[in-house]
Amino acid sequence: MGAGTGVALAVVLLAACGSSPVSTVGELDFANPLRIPPLAEPDRNGDQVTFSLEFQAGTTQFLDGPATRTWGLNGSYLAPTLRARVGDQVTVHVTNNVDESTTLHWHGMHLPASEDGGPHQMIQPGATWSPSWTVNQPAATLWFHPHLHEHTAEHVYRGAAGMFILDDPNADELNLPDTYGVDDIPVIVQDRSFSSDNQFTRREPANTGILGDQILINGTHNPHIEVTTELVRLRVLNASNGRLYNLRFDDHRPYHLIGTDSGLLSAPVELTDLRMAPGERAELVVTMRPGERAVLQSVEPDLGTSSGGRGNGGHDSFDLLQLRAADHLESSATLPDQLVPINGPDTAEVVETRSFELGNDTINGNKMDMERVDLAVENGAVEIWEITNDHSRPHSFHPHLIHFLVLDVDGHPPPPHLTGWKDTIYVPPDQTIRVIARFDGYPDPTVPYMFHCHILQHEDDGMMGQYVVIESGSTPPDRIDLSDDHQGGH
Ligand code: C2O
Ligand code: CU
Ligand code: CU
Repeated sequence: MGAGTGVALAVVLLAACGSSPVSTVGELDFANPLRIPPLAEPDRNGDQVTFSLEFQAGTTQFLDGPATRTWGLNGSYLAPTLRARVGDQVTVHVTNNVDESTTLHWHGMHLPASEDGGPHQMIQPGATWSPSWTVNQPAATLWFHPHLHEHTAEHVYRGAAGMFILDDPNADELNLPDTYGVDDIPVIVQDRSFSSDNQFTRREPANTGILGDQILINGTHNPHIEVTTELVRLRVLNASNGRLYNLRFDDHRPYHLIGTDSGLLSAPVELTDLRMAPGERAELVVTMRPGERAVLQSVEPDLGTSSGGRGNGGHDSFDLLQLRAADHLESSATLPDQLVPINGPDTAEVVETRSFELGNDTINGNKMDMERVDLAVENGAVEIWEITNDHSRPHSFHPHLIHFLVLDVDGHPPPPHLTGWKDTIYVPPDQTIRVIARFDGYPDPTVPYMFHCHILQHEDDGMMGQYVVIESGSTPPDRIDLSDDHQGGH
């Protein structure tokens, strides 16, 4: 075989693997105003807050030419942003108006397993499921998305997902930018590929499942936002199926990270780059000067893989969103030096340490089984979970119910951006991350919580397990009785 043929073959193979680097840097003109998901208007009666969400199929105009067939909640793509305060008693009526059974999971929410919206709470077409819980966790940027057995990736890729903002008095006092859509902006980042007739397609196979070559922010392709204040808070949610990002501005300007998945940090952390895995959230505050333009990008995220990220998007770069500052900017309150106290459990309280080994498509050698109880945690217990990526593939880890603090990363204290409350964490190949959490809550031996890799194709391929929270001293169940599963009929 001649050298020319070899090169041609290599090019074909790279293209077939979806692994040739993608870059949209410098290629966008940011013509489209960023869509801001509307804030849902709940029925409020004192602290009883009732929302209604409806899964629907429709079409969405992302690109010039044909519209794209999509799913959304109360709209054709994504969902209204839900917002509630600590102490609120939330009920959400979730109606399935698509022709497949699905679920809606409250990612990061501290609530009973029966209200969690995982694979055991299927909502049949035509049915309404009405979970209800009291918000009892710190202010944070959470989200919601379908979470069914083996088909989460598909349903999320179609567009059914949204943001859920929680408020509390500690956060109120900080004078952070908090006018929704003005100086407090949701930034839902998703990668998609489009067919020649503008339908969502998958470039396959990548090690991380679906990787798209175009970016949508809040469902807007090629977006810009007009900025009218000196400080802008960006609530970034990586709602992509499998893509990691490295958030950076085109001029490398520093910004402040003020919050991670499940709460504000104890103090702002100045960064120029931040890696975000699927499911993670980051609240950033950026300072703008009058009249300027700045582009939020994702530049070659370091996946910590030996291949340097080839095949996983580690060489890909994107222009995400252009910020256009007005010629006159309203002044903003100074960002405080201190944010909120973070009082995590003490290692002296730990009653159990458990290990989770992330393999090719298994956790501790097992694939997801809807009936198997992988572990039982006693109500109120403080545990250390030690998560190791034993494989060369990128993986992450997300337990339901709890938020955790990182104790160490490969034996080293966590870097400043990992010192706040987290519920999802990237675990690079050959690394071990130890986290600590208190499992406070809602004992119920009949309904499990999930833990899983949040690269959705991996989750669907079986990288998920189940745990129950039981009363202390009680006997863990042998199996989950699937006839107890909620069938979405009330
Ligand atoms: Cu974002 Cu188990 O979920
Ligand atoms: Cu979750
Ligand atoms: Cu994984």
